[in-house]
Amino acid sequence: MKKEEVDFLIIGSGVAGLRAAIELAPYGNVLVVTKDRPAESSTEYAQGGIAVALSDEDEVGIHFEDTLRAGDGLCREDAVKVLVEEGPERILELISWGAEFDKEGTKLDFTMEAAHSRKRVLHAHGDSTGKELERVLLNKVRSFPSVRKYPFAFTVDLIVRDGTCCGAYILKGKEIVALFAKATILATGGAGQIFSRTTNPAVTTGDGMAIAFRAGAVLEDCEFIQFHPTVLFAPSAPQFLLSEAMRGEGAILRDVSKKAFMREHHPDAELAPRDIVSRAILSQMAATKSSYVYLDLTHLDGAFIKKRFPRIYATCLQYDVNIINDLIPVCPAAHYMMGGIKTDLDGASGLMGLFAAGEVACTGVHGANRLASNSLLEGLVFGARAGRAAAAFGSVTARHGEGESGRFDGKDIIRHEPAQLALFDREEIRHALRKLMWKRVGIIRCDKSLSEAKDKLDKWDFIHNEIFMTRRDLELKNMLLVAQLVTRASLLRKGSVGAHYRSDFPDKGDNWNKHIILKKSGHEPVHDFIQ
Ligand code: SIN
Repeated sequence: MKKEEVDFLIIGSGVAGLRAAIELAPYGNVLVVTKDRPAESSTEYAQGGIAVALSDEDEVGIHFEDTLRAGDGLCREDAVKVLVEEGPERILELISWGAEFDKEGTKLDFTMEAAHSRKRVLHAHGDSTGKELERVLLNKVRSFPSVRKYPFAFTVDLIVRDGTCCGAYILKGKEIVALFAKATILATGGAGQIFSRTTNPAVTTGDGMAIAFRAGAVLEDCEFIQFHPTVLFAPSAPQFLLSEAMRGEGAILRDVSKKAFMREHHPDAELAPRDIVSRAILSQMAATKSSYVYLDLTHLDGAFIKKRFPRIYATCLQYDVNIINDLIPVCPAAHYMMGGIKTDLDGASGLMGLFAAGEVACTGVHGANRLASNSLLEGLVFGARAGRAAAAFGSVTARHGEGESGRFDGKDIIRHEPAQLALFDREEIRHALRKLMWKRVGIIRCDKSLSEAKDKLDKWDFIHNEIFMTRRDLELKNMLLVAQLVTRASLLRKGSVGAHYRSDFPDKGDNWNKHIILKKSGHEPVHDFIQ
């Protein structure tokens, strides 16, 4: 097996991974590994914007309170404090690197989104905020000769020796490479693809969470999946996100009989928290026996809509929906995972040498429900922190590859037998898993639906023993593991908090203010409820 050594290994090239790379660049050589092209990440597709307390009418204290309220009592306050206090500096720095946020005259233009009590959300090119961030961060990364990118390389597993993460096994083409590093940062994003309806791009298969769990790291808050209320539901159209900013600008939700219904469900109507809007849509869909409701912008100024949401306007037109004149059919979809690899405020996981930042991590900053547009900010703030912490860790650590070569043979990762399952079986399982998760572990859950999902998922346990050698198959293995962990945590939380709603336990229930952690131990993971 080929071996390589770097000082710092970053897996993932969205906002958190790139921001970490920038922080690490002065301290050694940095390799950013990504399974697709570098820009292919959830960051690239983020529309609405990035929340930051920078407007004249705002204060970090108000951003702090709004984040806590959305998190429904489960945010870790120290993490939220870091986010809102360091956020403005990270944004100003980004602007100094060339980020072009939209302006009203000479001033930054802040928009409104659900559960914010101030106009706080910066946006770029109308509805392409993530793309702008990715552009600026990739440009900045290019300016450091110490940072290299390794695209189309899938991380199979972490290398762990004597309780320390020493790098990762990477599948590059048909070959596995052992990449040794002083410190490794996981920034692989979320796991939306475990659901058949998701706003997430195809790359979000929970890889970072799965490989960290297999390596012995602790996962936390896995039951908290945020569902986005408004995702395009049109024949032959992709599951395209229709930004919450559209409701922030006055769009109205109507059922198929054209009735506006949100006021019946919450005083904040269209701008109620996402979980409430998603459940309201489901109940309206059931009442009207329809698979969708409508998002209505027809009362708003057409020229303004085209300017404010150019990408959404153009994309919907491709599928014969003119958002200026037509009611837009929408249905909720899985959007964001609040849980992930448990880390401290500097991204350190419990596993020495392993750091995590962004959606893959769980600092507790989002609690049980993320405040809209806090995730890009999280990537910037905690990506930079993880980079700094990894640099400090690296400065006192010998390069792990040295001295390892003798006893390293890679037998634990390579097997030359072909996969036991036929290709169509593997694809059938992927398809069935995604449908199962959407139907049984989706917006509304109960013991019956979750137990059924658990039993079905467990029947595919044999997949964990396959040693696959293609990205798609390895993704399936990770999706299965993350789906099992999400289902397990959802069964354990016998109560409804934030985005986790149990129809059999509509109240918060006992232990509601504790976090559920899961750790590998033999066949079944062990769990605990912690503060
Ligand atoms: C959106 O534009 O609605 C998504 C923003 C977010 O999830 O934070």
